[in-house]
Amino acid sequence: MAVTTQQLIQWKQQGRSIVALTAWDYAIAQLLDATGVDLILVGDSLAVVLGYETTLPVTLEEMIHHAKAVRRGVKNALVVVDLPFLTYQESIQQAMQSAGRVLKETGAQAVKLEGGYPAMVETIERLVQAGIPVMGHVGLTPQSVHQLGLRQQGKSPEAGERILNEAIALEQAGVFSIVLEHIPAHLALQITQKLRIPTIGIGAGSDCDGQVLVTADILGLSEKQPPFAKVYTNLRETITKAVQNYSVEVRDRQFP
Ligand code: KIV
Repeated sequence: MAVTTQQLIQWKQQGRSIVALTAWDYAIAQLLDATGVDLILVGDSLAVVLGYETTLPVTLEEMIHHAKAVRRGVKNALVVVDLPFLTYQESIQQAMQSAGRVLKETGAQAVKLEGGYPAMVETIERLVQAGIPVMGHVGLTPQSVHQLGLRQQGKSPEAGERILNEAIALEQAGVFSIVLEHIPAHLALQITQKLRIPTIGIGAGSDCDGQVLVTADILGLSEKQPPFAKVYTNLRETITKAVQNYSVEVRDRQFP
């Protein structure tokens, strides 16, 4: 049965951990879905595969193009799509148009927006009222890289309290789940215990209601991984060897 936003909340109540990964194309989405992954995020980490240094240059058109491909490969997982930088921060109307386009044009079930400051909470509340399922994202928010860097967030008691309050405000605004990125494990635990909706951690310890990682990182495809990613296989090495073998065989006229 296809995963729904309500299902994720029930899984939290039942203590069943949620498995989430990113996908940027049809082939990977199909593989992830067939293994039974619960949630597939078309993250704006799409920047990696497009060769951008940060997520900032990613456009709404690019997100929609890739999300359509991912959606075609998914039968069961819940598909969530990131709204990219400056396609939702300017105004509620801009956010409504961008989120509406993503849902209408890609067939994805939800969008993810970064930030839990008051204006963003208000925007998210309006999206939810309009029937758009929204996932929140606090802690390290990569679209603010030029303000925050890629450092762990919420280390001081004051910063931790601010992130906790943002998470509470997002829950009140109606998000169905929230990504906690690169914050101390004790803070993630505190937020997870406080909220009714599931927390999905990335670099936030093992006490979140689920975990997400960038698939290219776990497959060893990324040029560099964040410190909290775990590399489960080294596809860069596998691909390099395969291509080298093919090249040798073509040059030696052994293939075909
Ligand atoms: O863009 C992305 O892939 C993300 C995850 C790292 C949470 O937002």
